[in-house]
Amino acid sequence: MSDMPLHEAIHTQRAIRQFTEEPVPEEDVQALLDAAVCAPSGGNRQPWHFVVLRDPGLKAKVRELYHRSWNAYKEKVAEMAQTRAEAAATLERWRKNPAGDHFAANLDKVPVFIIPCLDMRALSFGDDPESPSVMTSNSVYASIYPAVQNILLTARARGLGAVLTTLHCRYEDEVKRILGVPAHIRTTCLIPVGHPRAKYGRTRRVPAADRTHKDGWNLSLAASYEPGRGILRVGDRMTKNPVTCSSETLVYDAQAMMREGHFGRLPVVEEGRLVGVVTDRDIRTALLPPEVPKGLKDRFDLLLVRRVKDIMTKSPITVGPDASIEQAADILKSNKVGALPVVEGGWLVGIITRGDVLGGFLDAVGKRRGALRFSLKTSRKPGEGGIVALLRLLEEEGAEVLSVVSDPDSSDPVNYVHYTVRVARGDPKKLIPLLEGKGIPRPEILQEEAGKG
Ligand SMILES: Cc1cc2nc3c(=O)[nH]c(=O)nc-3n(C[C@H](O)[C@H](O)[C@H](O)COP(=O)(O)O)c2cc1C
Repeated sequence: MSDMPLHEAIHTQRAIRQFTEEPVPEEDVQALLDAAVCAPSGGNRQPWHFVVLRDPGLKAKVRELYHRSWNAYKEKVAEMAQTRAEAAATLERWRKNPAGDHFAANLDKVPVFIIPCLDMRALSFGDDPESPSVMTSNSVYASIYPAVQNILLTARARGLGAVLTTLHCRYEDEVKRILGVPAHIRTTCLIPVGHPRAKYGRTRRVPAADRTHKDGWNLSLAASYEPGRGILRVGDRMTKNPVTCSSETLVYDAQAMMREGHFGRLPVVEEGRLVGVVTDRDIRTALLPPEVPKGLKDRFDLLLVRRVKDIMTKSPITVGPDASIEQAADILKSNKVGALPVVEGGWLVGIITRGDVLGGFLDAVGKRRGALRFSLKTSRKPGEGGIVALLRLLEEEGAEVLSVVSDPDSSDPVNYVHYTVRVARGDPKKLIPLLEGKGIPRPEILQEEAGKG
């Protein structure tokens, strides 16, 4: 089989977590390992071993530990989601796309596991293998991951799917016991390898230019990537890897897919590229021809003869992953559609719905983190506003300001504006006298029931 060009493999190597049951020939596994051992390593010590698992019993035992670790990881994220927006966003993403759960529960069905192992003795020059004195700790793992990347890229180039996983490491001692791996060997990661169940698009990453510091560290560049910055971009709110169909899919099957997933629409994709969208409305309309076509018993037979390409919208309205959610909201509203395929360079990278956009706005105003809201009508004239004084006071009193939204006064929009400030902590009873003491106009205070919504 001829491999794909390196550039294409690099730009389309994705974390594949859904596989078909098609077996992976030994020849392919060998090609992956031959590529692995071409990698660089500290001092060219080549400190690697690869445990290849095909045995269903062994894979099931390892899966059990991976699954346990995944559940522990999820619990930890859920705990953090109480106080941290990033964790809450991750939880929400998992709720919408439970691929991680499915993967953890079915890992052992993937045809092959490759476990790249690191021989600490090979790095140690005969001294303490637990902490080789000649290698810095960075060099230790840096002596295996280039080999891992060679495996991932070669898998991609040969049409196989793979994903680098490390969750088993929480129970590494147990994994080692199951596989008979000696103490001085570390199981650095686990790479399930199989045939991908679906076609995946290109990798989506922050552009290199945004992370490139020329002639020394550029502080403003680093600051622009503080966590949470992306909360209002389409790429951060969309569902990645949405369920899709092809233009040859029978309308009957498309309808079944929509029913099963509770979706109102499916992006239609050929080779990862968006070619159309089919909605449940298109299907209902397709069932309403003036007459039942000749040769068919009733209109429902149409579902079994028509294909998606016959009824889909061919050039659907789309949005890019870097667009703001305000822009997505505007497009959704002005075109009266319920969702937009998210496309980058012709590749389908996700789908964003009205609900996702609404969730973005809720997070942006801090609805899920703070139940206390101050609304202040103030003059627009500089220095007469009171908003700055209000914000300063809130900050001094330890109330975390989550958002400030401005809204022109409906009766006098030129001179007056309403500011709504939402905070995460703060006691209104204590704050009101303090505000009055500083001559700040009394805001309207709304204390919603905490945790609702
Ligand atoms: C150090 C490391 C550990 C990872 N561990 C896991 C894991 O335990 N389970 C998993 O499903 N994916 C794991 N991943 C895969 C990442 O989630 C994946 O590379 C990332 O989300 C990018 O996916 P994409 O290439 O499809 O965009 C790991 C990746 C790295 C580099």
